[in-house]
Amino acid sequence: MAQNKEEILAALALRRLVFVNEQRLFEKDDSDEHDQRAIHINAWSRKNPLLLGTVRCYPELENPKVWWGGRLAVHPDYRIKGIGVYLIRAAVEIVKNQKADRFLASVQFQNVTLFEKLGWKSVGEPFHYHGHPHQIMEVDLNVYDASSSPNADKRQSVGIK
Ligand SMILES: CC(C)(COP(=O)(O)OP(=O)(O)OC[C@H]1O[C@@H](n2cnc3c(N)ncnc32)[C@H](O)[C@@H]1OP(=O)(O)O)[C@@H](O)C(=O)NCCC(=O)NCCS
Repeated sequence: MAQNKEEILAALALRRLVFVNEQRLFEKDDSDEHDQRAIHINAWSRKNPLLLGTVRCYPELENPKVWWGGRLAVHPDYRIKGIGVYLIRAAVEIVKNQKADRFLASVQFQNVTLFEKLGWKSVGEPFHYHGHPHQIMEVDLNVYDASSSPNADKRQSVGIK
């Protein structure tokens, strides 16, 4: 988990690279009111102080037992190495530890298969967010088995904090 302001700023910078510069999902900045109370999970390279990936999780204000994950971003140069899966698994474990009842995510439609592989299920119909198709998905916190996810062997090269 990001422990200080610098680590959170690194997460926000990587998100800008991915969601603003690469995907053009947002014009200038993707940060919002949820960032202040979110848990930011960062995956750092062990070799140098480079942030490889990030994801955030936060509880609903009205119902703090319901948590949302989002802004999952892996550095473009480090994709398909298991970092995305690593972050999704870490998010589930961390949210479980918050004694959450539910964990949901608004997933970009092209990533639905990736989440399904990890046991997430679609909730409701797809919708458009900032012009991109999304799908709300949920993982059952009672049955999720972290060890069943793919890429377990690829996770050695990154460190989560
Ligand atoms: C989506 C994203 C986070 C995936 O991260 P990643 O580190 O590249 O993914 P992983 O290496 O952990 O992928 C693990 C497996 O899922 C597969 N996978 C990756 N992206 C996938 C996708 N969009 N759909 C289906 N499978 C996918 C990989 O091929 C790999 O399969 P394998 O185990 O058979 O080799 C990354 O591509 C990214 O940052 N994309 C841009 C931002 C984005 O879309 N964020 C998610 C918003 S919901």
